[in-house]
Amino acid sequence: MEDYKYKLGMVGLGVMGRNLVLNFADHGFPIAGFDKDKTKVDALNAEGSGKKVKGVNAVEEFIFLLSKPRVVMMLVPAGSPVDSVINDVLPYLEPGDLIIDGGNSHFTDTNKRFLELKEKKINFLGVGISGGEQGARFGPSMMPGGPKDAYEIVRPMFEAASAKAGGKNCVTYLGPGSAGHYVKMVHNGIEYGLMQLISEVYDILRRGLNLSNSELHKIFNEWNKTELLSFLIEITSDVFAQRDDNGEGMLIDKILDKAKQKGTGKWTSQDAMDIQVPLNTIDAAVAMRDMSAFKSERESASLILDEKNIKFSGNKEEFILKLRSALYFSMITTYAQGMAMLLAASKEYEYNLSLKDIAQIWSGGCIIRAALLEDISNAFENKPDLVNLLIDPKISSEIKKRAADVRLIIKTAIDMGIPAAGMSASLAYYDSYRSAWLPANLVQAQRDFFGAHTYERVDEKGVYHTHWNLK
Ligand code: 6PG
Repeated sequence: MEDYKYKLGMVGLGVMGRNLVLNFADHGFPIAGFDKDKTKVDALNAEGSGKKVKGVNAVEEFIFLLSKPRVVMMLVPAGSPVDSVINDVLPYLEPGDLIIDGGNSHFTDTNKRFLELKEKKINFLGVGISGGEQGARFGPSMMPGGPKDAYEIVRPMFEAASAKAGGKNCVTYLGPGSAGHYVKMVHNGIEYGLMQLISEVYDILRRGLNLSNSELHKIFNEWNKTELLSFLIEITSDVFAQRDDNGEGMLIDKILDKAKQKGTGKWTSQDAMDIQVPLNTIDAAVAMRDMSAFKSERESASLILDEKNIKFSGNKEEFILKLRSALYFSMITTYAQGMAMLLAASKEYEYNLSLKDIAQIWSGGCIIRAALLEDISNAFENKPDLVNLLIDPKISSEIKKRAADVRLIIKTAIDMGIPAAGMSASLAYYDSYRSAWLPANLVQAQRDFFGAHTYERVDEKGVYHTHWNLK
């Protein structure tokens, strides 16, 4: 038995859990690991040999290894696995100990667990963690929420293990209760939006302009040296260069066009509807993943609804430049939607979020990291109560000069019969947000007409109902 106790115990030694244990250990923190699956425990002990790491597969032994107050962190799938880990460890914990859920739990579950554990005087933190396997191993972006004093217990470990961007840690305390899991949910909503936009660009270049995978690889590689510099653009470039290990040709052409989802993007759209925040691009991204799942229906419909689409006939190089500009425009509006949702949620759920801090911790380690986040962080630093990113002076001038490009790209995609659902939704978000007047007066008139739902007037205060000219 080692003569030191372990600072943190990790439950769930899948790739993410194991990598995070090794990451903490690399920074000098002794970490214990627990998994019911002995092969995972053995894998941790093998990879962690020479480090202050110890994997076990008995709960009691695991808890005994931990220094007090004990910190038990879990990286297990959202839903019932989180509750069963809590139930398994709870009998061995005492008041003042801390449980951390590092998975993608729904924020309402986190609120519930927080209250239940509070009754037992057990601290609980909900921490969103982004960056995939590599992030967990070498520096993720971490989004902690819960009691601030509980966060202080793990702050040195989290700061050491987190990604760094611009000399700063990509982790900071975000707010009470479920603030961390909420911010991670919105991160994933933005992730869905950006992935949809990039895949539309791919569609336009592949089906519309007939470009090869190697041309696509070069374009995305070049774009990653521009204002589009981001993790998702970088990996997209790499995807087009990946050969198929199982056969001839490139892997991308062998992957079935049905996008799966674990639900975090859908949750973002669902809660945005509950708190009444428009998320045009993210909603479209969720709908397009759903549409992709109807593969066999789409195959049949492609024969019935066959149309002769217009072929691209313009200057490819000029068009590709405009496409880059349109993608940037759409990416900005996607972040704007996510940030506006966080602002609303911060009031609704009393999270007291700092949007500047959130943009900063998203600048490294996470899936949506991008050069653009520096401008976003600056925008909220200059004006912490900025109601929408689109009206920040720098951002507004960036998008205004690109609006004509996005219009042209969408028109061309429409002519070619290519669905640019995310990009069209981004433009609609922009066009509606900059519309001093929207046709919602007609919606109100119709509601009042058929249901006496009343309306407000532009010229007088109050609530009105009209006896419409019923025939
Ligand atoms: C991250 C990712 C991560 C996971 C997504 C995948 O930030 O590291 O978002 O959490 O890859 O949850 O989500 P879908 O399966 O829904 O695409």
